[in-house]
Amino acid sequence: MRELKDKKVLITGAASGIGRATAIAMGKLGCRLFLTDINGEGLKKTVEEISGTGGVVCLARAFDVGNYQAMAEFAGDVHAGFGSLDIMVNVAGIALFSQIEDMSHSDWEKVITVNLWGVIHGLECFVPAMVHSGRGGHIVTISSTAGLIGLPWHVVYAGTKHALVGISECLRYDLRKHKIDVSVVCPGAVNTGLVKSVEIHGDKEKTDKARTYFIKRAITPEKVAGLIIRTIRKRKFLAITSFDIKLLFFLKKYCFPLYHLVMLTLSRFLDQSLKKTV
Ligand SMILES: NC(=O)c1ccc[n+]([C@@H]2O[C@H](COP(=O)([O-])OP(=O)(O)OC[C@H]3O[C@@H](n4cnc5c(N)ncnc54)[C@H](O)[C@@H]3O)[C@@H](O)[C@H]2O)c1
Repeated sequence: MRELKDKKVLITGAASGIGRATAIAMGKLGCRLFLTDINGEGLKKTVEEISGTGGVVCLARAFDVGNYQAMAEFAGDVHAGFGSLDIMVNVAGIALFSQIEDMSHSDWEKVITVNLWGVIHGLECFVPAMVHSGRGGHIVTISSTAGLIGLPWHVVYAGTKHALVGISECLRYDLRKHKIDVSVVCPGAVNTGLVKSVEIHGDKEKTDKARTYFIKRAITPEKVAGLIIRTIRKRKFLAITSFDIKLLFFLKKYCFPLYHLVMLTLSRFLDQSLKKTV
């Protein structure tokens, strides 16, 4: 069981949702926190809440994880002031759901820049120092159900989230010799800022209904934060938040024909639920 007190922990996406809840929960456990988000105001509120309850935020900075230079400068300051990290939690992300024919090049680019390059920038800038320190550690990346299953309407989102599962699996084996554990967390529906910010290229009235349905089925970000902490403590590789997703993933691996039927049904259902009628 990994002890978390006094560990130096970086969390991206700490201004809202899962990142914020994880930062607050890890602050309560006595972790020394390094927090980032593109939303400076939200980040300030998270820092105030943690500091107000006696938690320690060593450094917080607002920047875009998709900007390599900004990540490198932040890593330089963290390393110069505090040494290498013990734990890195990659949370920042955005979502866009669409049919491919309704997407522009910039739609692909913006999701890949945040969800994939954002995580890669963090790994590039922080993990080599963890390796060289020889102290071991833990890297957690938040993927999604869409990182395990090619969900209809999720083409770019699922692409980035599948890549995060692949990167995590490679690092799991590559970093083992350095005593750095790797985890990938795949949440289903979570009631966070993402529910409002997700861009859906469909019928406005239908997508509003879909958001309401999503919220009804969603779990809280605090529950996901608890799962992230248990995953680190137990050194688990893969964590899935809900039973239905575990079942679908199981079917994909062990009973593909049934999985295929479920996916065809889901595809028709999402088309009916989201697509503009012409
Ligand atoms: N909410 C869900 O249902 C759900 C399900 C599966 C996976 N996820 C994943 O969980 C992660 C956290 O999302 P959330 O649900 O807490 O949403 P959220 O919108 O509440 O939080 C995401 C945070 O990332 C930050 N962010 C966005 N773009 C950024 C950028 N370019 N640079 C730095 N920070 C940036 C946002 O400002 C925000 O604070 C995401 O990676 C998301 O894909 C969410």
